[in-house]
Amino acid sequence: MGVDRLCFGTSTFVSGRLRPGKDPAPGIAALRSAVSAGVRLVHSNPKLGTQWAIRSALDSARATRIRHLVKAELPLDANAATVRASVMRAVDQSCDTLGVQRLHAVTVEIDLKRTHDHAMLMDSQAVAAFYTAVAREALRYGRVDRVIAYCHSPAHLTAALQAKGLSGVAAQYNVAEPWPALFLDRIEGRGLPFVGMSPLRRGALVRPSGHDESNSARSLPAVRWAAADPRVATIVTTMSSPTHVSQVISALRDPLPLASVRHLATAWLAAASPRPLPEGNGWSPLDRLEPFCLPAQEGPS
Ligand SMILES: NC(=O)c1ccc[n+]([C@@H]2O[C@H](COP(=O)([O-])OP(=O)(O)OC[C@H]3O[C@@H](n4cnc5c(N)ncnc54)[C@H](OP(=O)(O)O)[C@@H]3O)[C@@H](O)[C@H]2O)c1
Repeated sequence: MGVDRLCFGTSTFVSGRLRPGKDPAPGIAALRSAVSAGVRLVHSNPKLGTQWAIRSALDSARATRIRHLVKAELPLDANAATVRASVMRAVDQSCDTLGVQRLHAVTVEIDLKRTHDHAMLMDSQAVAAFYTAVAREALRYGRVDRVIAYCHSPAHLTAALQAKGLSGVAAQYNVAEPWPALFLDRIEGRGLPFVGMSPLRRGALVRPSGHDESNSARSLPAVRWAAADPRVATIVTTMSSPTHVSQVISALRDPLPLASVRHLATAWLAAASPRPLPEGNGWSPLDRLEPFCLPAQEGPS
């Protein structure tokens, strides 16, 4: 259990647009070790220039039944022709570089910077129509099995739940941004899986080394938190070394109690409310997990 929920994120695992000087060898070894541990989901973005390394790792691992999720980012105010062309470009480029005929899923993200009509970003009908249009084009193209809406905010997630043709919804999901937990009932009610991305907030939620090093799973309470609710079908994180892969898998296999999810989401809601909070309200997401990380939660040794 655990490995089947893990998706290997690849934005920075080797040299590419975001980390041009990075040594690719440890990242390639990380993907190989993830696959040998049973990971079968890989997420990539054709614009980041790291898909070459995914193919290299998977070819040398002779991996089978790998399912590729690929990002397509478009402005919300793109016209139909631009939507079609952008989706085809992301899919074709990914299939060519990865050496596959089809993709498991496209994860559609609204390009906030290139959306000129800012009013549309506040219009839930426009957001729902966008996801519906991209899903229609991607599925019509025939090289994609599913379309998943990546949502930047609670409002956009609400809108995505009104869209047609989607097979899932995704968002950043971590102890600093736990708000998607408030939607898991509604997402389940729509019959859609939820994909939680960036459980470590790009590394910021890794506990400083030296903290409980005796148990590798304990060093990643943020991953244990992301795994706590079984309705989080998939968790996407980047890992650039085999050691990190084994630590993340250990953490996924040792989820925190479900109550930690409600606890943190409720605290987030209180902190995000427009009412001023009293000084020193103690809002520190990782600290708030401490009571849930007590040794009493450990299974029999
Ligand atoms: N629209 C979309 O489709 C969309 C949007 C956003 C993100 N994504 C995907 O989601 C993925 C999420 O990546 P993320 O980087 O944001 O994930 P993350 O979980 O927020 O952070 C990953 C970071 O944590 C570090 N880490 C992992 N295990 C560790 C360990 N055991 N000890 C210390 N550090 C550890 C990694 O370092 P190392 O690299 O050194 O291991 C990496 O820097 C992206 O790669 C991308 O594929 C997709």
